[in-house]
Amino acid sequence: MKISIIGAGNVGSTTALRLAQEGVGDILLVDIVKGLAQGKALDLEDARPILKFNYSIEGTDDIVNIKGSDIIVITAGLARKPGMTREELLAKNAAILKEVCLKIKESCPGSIVIVVTNPLDLMTYFALKVTGFSPDKLFGMGVSLDAGRFANLIGKELNVPCTDIDACVIGPHGEGMLPLSAFSSIKGVSLNKFVDEAKCEELARKTVYRGAEIVSLLGSGSAYYAPSAAVAAIVKAIVKDEKRNIGVSAYLNGEYGIKDVCIGVPCRMGRNGIEGIIELALSEKERSTLHSSCVSLKQLLSQLPL
Ligand code: APR
Repeated sequence: MKISIIGAGNVGSTTALRLAQEGVGDILLVDIVKGLAQGKALDLEDARPILKFNYSIEGTDDIVNIKGSDIIVITAGLARKPGMTREELLAKNAAILKEVCLKIKESCPGSIVIVVTNPLDLMTYFALKVTGFSPDKLFGMGVSLDAGRFANLIGKELNVPCTDIDACVIGPHGEGMLPLSAFSSIKGVSLNKFVDEAKCEELARKTVYRGAEIVSLLGSGSAYYAPSAAVAAIVKAIVKDEKRNIGVSAYLNGEYGIKDVCIGVPCRMGRNGIEGIIELALSEKERSTLHSSCVSLKQLLSQLPL
């Protein structure tokens, strides 16, 4: 398997390290900044004898080298800077994504593409339209990261190992996300049996603002350890044909009563990418929140240069 990661910044290079160490495939790091991807690849290569992992990793500033990739991860883009509106970020990242997606379409028409660049659900939709790829082969990483954050916060609140927790978050990768307590469990027992509704809501709220909390503490840049772990888990599920249930930003065509939008839902992930969209039995309130998020996303879709 050849896995190309476009954007060798924090998320891209940490994803490369994780995948390389796990021997998931041959990794190519790509960045528009001259020398950056090559430098990081050499550094990662030097770690091989020390870590005793004989992985293959290369770096390039020429995107043409992605040719032959089976899986492509797109982390290229800008993070929001102080004073920059969401609309400006949307326009700037859409321009970067367009350029990258046209190259992918040309050089790797049969590849599976995972979008990581924010605003995630909009960029995933945009990438689908630009490439014309089938929606089971192009999707976004978002809610599986949010589910990781939710599980961590539940574990800390209840003093149970986070590894015993199965957390579920659906919806947009942003403020409208829906951490679902009824579908989150500790060793099979619903979270609702451990905490009351007020506590569930507090944990859900903390999950929604976790990314912003990290950004404000870091001072510059945004989270990358957990995001790269979430990307690597999706790539591994595909390469190893795991058929795991992972939340991804998927194009919906009637599922959940929603059409023509990309949003986070649980999916069965395997060698063919999305092998099934899992429809949870949501409460009326959850369903209507999800639908309102789609209305907001659709309003923003009109700002994409399609
Ligand atoms: N082609 C290749 N690489 C590009 C291009 C391009 N056209 N445009 C920008 N890049 C590169 C930048 O040079 C930079 O190295 O993308 C990289 C982005 O890295 P960081 O700025 O470190 O951002 P990171 O924290 O990795 O986040 C990347 O993922 O989680 C999202 O919101 C986040 O949209 C952001 C993306």
